[in-house]
Amino acid sequence: MFVADALLSRISCRKFLPDPVPLNTVRDIIDKARWAPSGGNLQPWHLYAITGDALTGLLDDVARKMEVIPRGERPEYLVYPDGLKDPYEARRFKCGEDLYATIGVTRDNKPGRLAQFRQNFQLFGAPVGLFAYIDRQMGPPQWSDMGMFLQSLMLVALEHGLHTCAQEAWAQWHYTIAEHLDPPKEWMLFCGIALGYMDEGAPVNRLRTERATVDEITTFVGPWTG
Ligand SMILES: Cc1cc2nc3c(=O)[nH]c(=O)nc-3n(C[C@H](O)[C@H](O)[C@H](O)COP(=O)(O)O)c2cc1C
Repeated sequence: MFVADALLSRISCRKFLPDPVPLNTVRDIIDKARWAPSGGNLQPWHLYAITGDALTGLLDDVARKMEVIPRGERPEYLVYPDGLKDPYEARRFKCGEDLYATIGVTRDNKPGRLAQFRQNFQLFGAPVGLFAYIDRQMGPPQWSDMGMFLQSLMLVALEHGLHTCAQEAWAQWHYTIAEHLDPPKEWMLFCGIALGYMDEGAPVNRLRTERATVDEITTFVGPWTG
């Protein structure tokens, strides 16, 4: 698979088949992703890979707690800045609207939206959950390194016929996740990544998000050739 093919075929999968993913496959994906670059080669990432009863136990625990605290625990970092401005806010809004449109959930259908949002905490049915931690000492440059690692992982997963969904939503449940995984105190949960085989027929997986054009995101300063 060419890199460009992987880049263009990766989407956030929000409905997975229950088929298990072998340990060797997960190991191979991480084995390739670990070659992502990082400033000073710090490699400031750590994953927990969880499946089977361990995963079911976590998901059940979160589901139970959600009955009592539907909004979850306080995230340790701001997932979006307060007062998010345009064009970012407009993009976020559109991606949400387009997502709910795939499953026929209208703007005023609050229970329908909540039900879809809550699928985050079932890992969208994925058989494997990856939880990405970063040392609290790290700042923006290392968080960017983490992003390169995670994108590498999501692209390599495609070579195994696997899809992914990065999920910041899990930051809402970092205390409960820590109870299950027991990470070192100095580590902070960045996000979860659902990993598994895509349910190709699921309407929610028809979502294809948009991107700003090359000229919108690049200022070319030259002279250039060609
Ligand atoms: C770090 C990160 C966290 C994300 N968190 C969530 C999440 O909690 N729930 C969700 O449904 N999608 C989540 N997404 C998926 C984004 O909404 C998605 O990447 C974006 O809309 C672009 O769509 P695409 O991934 O299908 O290209 C996340 C993506 C990233 C990179």
